Amino acid sequence: MAHVILRDLPLEQAIYGQDSPLLVARGGFDLVPSHIDLAETDGRREPGFDVALREALEVARERYDFIVLDAPPNLGMLTVMGLAAADEVIIPVRTEPYDSMGVGLILGTISKVQRRLNPALRLSGILPTQFGARKSVDREVLEHLAAVMAGKAPVLEPVQASAAFGHAARNGRIALEASPSSAAAVYGRLAAALVTGSALPYANLVPQPVEA
Ligand SMILES: Nc1ncnc2c1ncn2[C@@H]1O[C@H](COP(=O)(O)OP(=O)(O)OP(=O)(O)O)[C@@H](O)[C@H]1O
Ligand SMILES: [Mg+2]
Repeated sequence: MAHVILRDLPLEQAIYGQDSPLLVARGGFDLVPSHIDLAETDGRREPGFDVALREALEVARERYDFIVLDAPPNLGMLTVMGLAAADEVIIPVRTEPYDSMGVGLILGTISKVQRRLNPALRLSGILPTQFGARKSVDREVLEHLAAVMAGKAPVLEPVQASAAFGHAARNGRIALEASPSSAAAVYGRLAAALVTGSALPYANLVPQPVEA
């Protein structure tokens, strides 16, 4: 992605396809990996730079059913580029007090991007992660998220905290594949809903916001 965004390499030349020895994961997807050089993105001055990713992805749009963009955990240029290029956005948030406090900031960034760069961008939901159902702080954070999001977007079914993710990462595997019945199952339900265009799985611990 660093070559695509910073050095105008055509996206096709950055794709690791299923035939690539570098792509170890099985499954029907190709990958364009990140690189630490992407850190340069924040310092770059260039006309229309915030839509450079959207422009680069144009060729891939009709070639793939879905394109998933993973944004960094900050509100820098790469996140704005991702929002400018996307049709919909899901915001994963750890159910920790400080993490959930950042949601207001990302919502502000999303509305600016909708107003100035990408009016078609849809906020599909907040995805609480590393949730401890038995921890009262986590339940409070979830309720806080639901209150903040009321009328804006749904709070999705939380991903429970689980060792399955660390184990899978350590073994270079996909958690959902390595332990399908673990907390990772939420990601399977979420993906299925996205693929079929049906309602995303909502959190049922808290009253759901009424759609505006
Ligand atoms: N539900 C979970 N339960 C326990 N550990 C988790 C869970 N989800 C993720 N982790 C662990 O947290 C770490 C970070 O996960 P992940 O890369 O998904 O987060 P991120 O916010 O995208 O991080 P980054 O800032 O690096 O992009 C990993 O080590 C992963 O194993
Ligand atoms: Mg990440």
